Amino acid sequence: MNVYFDNAATTPLRKEVIKTISRVMEECFGNPSSTHSFGRTAKTYIETARKGIASLLNALPQEIIFTSGGTESDNMILSCAVKDLNVKTIISSPIEHHAVIHALDALKKNQKINVRYLKLDAQGNIDLNDLEESLKIDNSKKLVSLMHVNNEIGNILNLHEVGNLCHNNNALFHTDAVQGVGHYLFDLKNLPVDFLSSASHKYHGPKGIGFSFVRKNSGLEPFIYGGAQERGLRAGTESVHNIVGMHEALDISHKKLEVEKKQILFLKNHFIKGLIEIFPNVHFNGNSSENNLSTYTLLNVALPIDEKKASLLDFHLDLKGIACSKGSACQSGSSQGSHVLNHIQNQKIKKMSSLRFSFSSFNNIDEVDYVLETLKEFVTQ
Ligand SMILES: Cc1ncc(COP(=O)(O)O)c(C=O)c1O
Repeated sequence: MNVYFDNAATTPLRKEVIKTISRVMEECFGNPSSTHSFGRTAKTYIETARKGIASLLNALPQEIIFTSGGTESDNMILSCAVKDLNVKTIISSPIEHHAVIHALDALKKNQKINVRYLKLDAQGNIDLNDLEESLKIDNSKKLVSLMHVNNEIGNILNLHEVGNLCHNNNALFHTDAVQGVGHYLFDLKNLPVDFLSSASHKYHGPKGIGFSFVRKNSGLEPFIYGGAQERGLRAGTESVHNIVGMHEALDISHKKLEVEKKQILFLKNHFIKGLIEIFPNVHFNGNSSENNLSTYTLLNVALPIDEKKASLLDFHLDLKGIACSKGSACQSGSSQGSHVLNHIQNQKIKKMSSLRFSFSSFNNIDEVDYVLETLKEFVTQ
């Protein structure tokens, strides 16, 4: 049996999306910047997708800027905020995705901006008092960049609370919503965010495409220089088939959201129950086992397995056809490991074997039972 429980890394494409992408590739190869009919058709496809995505998120079409995905969207917002908006201080958290953390490292080094990482509690939740204090620390122009859903431990940030805090203190707010878009509904007109990043491959769309939400009149200037695409912000011939595929993937995800959420949550809760039966001392990293505080799509577990066996666990799961993600913190002497778990785990939990299992509506209960059985067999054999 092959089980794919690594949906936070990427998701399989929906069949309808594959069909649409193939059709667009065949029917619509024109360059959207060309003024002849081939180009105009391609342009129409793109602008229809832009309008559709904007309407799904209650944003304006001009606020949706197509990018190559989450990494570019994050880099675009952070770099442009410094380059164009006179941002001198960026407040973030140490458990953001590397697309944010490494971009901040570069901005700190090359642009001499101040980067402040907020305190977290043992579950990885942001200390909002620290955020408030950080916002008031001096008069420099500030941007806060905090992710909506953590890709390793699933913690959900209250975007309203954080956004209001930022705006009340004259700071801009960017959220990396790569793990949130397609799984939660957004009302961007009424959400206090200035910028948002997303990627289509996290909600059964194609890879290499995403978008930045850039609120109207934000003052951003070109991120990639060249042609006039994306209102001059992001030059380069658009990936028409991927843009149309992304729109379709988001549309279907929204239509099926409630039904699929229920289905996925059922699998996750069944998995949690089974794990507790097999490993009474199992630890769930972050908020991942708490339905209201974590995304329904992800569970990060620390399993109490003796060290010798633990070294074989990944290999064993792979051999059994199970795909999940290694999530362990640094082991002694190793520079590898999860920067997220390193931040939140105590020494005792660090010694356990952490794995991230992430689900989608493509999964079923038999797969959950198979993974549970495989784990049980592994610890008892
Ligand atoms: C939270 C988060 N941000 C950014 C990214 C990067 O997105 P992409 O792979 O589309 O560049 C990911 C992907 O894993 C992610 O989970």
